[in-house]
Amino acid sequence: MSGSPQPIGVFDSGVGGLTVLAHIRAALPGADLLYLADSGHAPYGDKSAEFIAARTRAIADFLVARDAAALVVACNTATAAAIAELRVRHAVPIVGMEPAVKPAAEATKSGVIGVLATSGTLESDKFAELVRRFGSQARVIVQPCPGLVERIEAGDLAGPETRALLEGFVAPLLAQGADTLVLGCTHYPFLAPLLRELAGEAVSLIETGEAVARQLLRRLAETDFSCGASGGTARFYTSGDPRRLEALLPRLWGAAAPVEPIG
Ligand code: DGL
Repeated sequence: MSGSPQPIGVFDSGVGGLTVLAHIRAALPGADLLYLADSGHAPYGDKSAEFIAARTRAIADFLVARDAAALVVACNTATAAAIAELRVRHAVPIVGMEPAVKPAAEATKSGVIGVLATSGTLESDKFAELVRRFGSQARVIVQPCPGLVERIEAGDLAGPETRALLEGFVAPLLAQGADTLVLGCTHYPFLAPLLRELAGEAVSLIETGEAVARQLLRRLAETDFSCGASGGTARFYTSGDPRRLEALLPRLWGAAAPVEPIG
């Protein structure tokens, strides 16, 4: 067993992965967490798979060099573009995101589910495979949401611009009878209160952060990873402006923390 406890490395194109980090913190209160927001290159949603794969490689190398015991790709878009390659590159357990098409297809009563995600995720082979496997149980309507991640990165979770944008994405899904909405981008759970207001109480919102934290626990249990029962630390890095992330953390992470810039 090594002397100092190893941290868990978590990353996203920006602040979205904080919605996953919160579930990891709840599942592992004693773990030391490293979080990297690639905000200098966000959004990933409309970038090429090659660009996202290159960013993902660089970030994974950075976190593994800081002794991460496991990596969580807290980004649906990066998972779709690059997780297979990362698993070849690094021996540590690597857990990724996947839009919750299966649970949504099982939960829907109307037989129609709406998937909100980035274009990168919705156009990926991984997503096509997901719909092939589970889409026969329900009609799956996809809705790319260009511009939404930028609003969230700006900290605008409920302003008029964000509301108008989200309403434009959700209204067609509801009009087609969707009773279950998949939040297929880790940024979107920050909009859950607004989405709930726009979609109404009868519509189910499904996100995957908690399931990913459970999967991380399962993967760590196969290793000699250990941590205390409480008191874990969280350390934040960004490729964007550290002060911007520092200003958002109290609201999006629930605590202030210093943010270190990366090159
Ligand atoms: N949070 C991301 C996801 O889960 C990426 C959003 C973006 O950068 O476009 O897909």
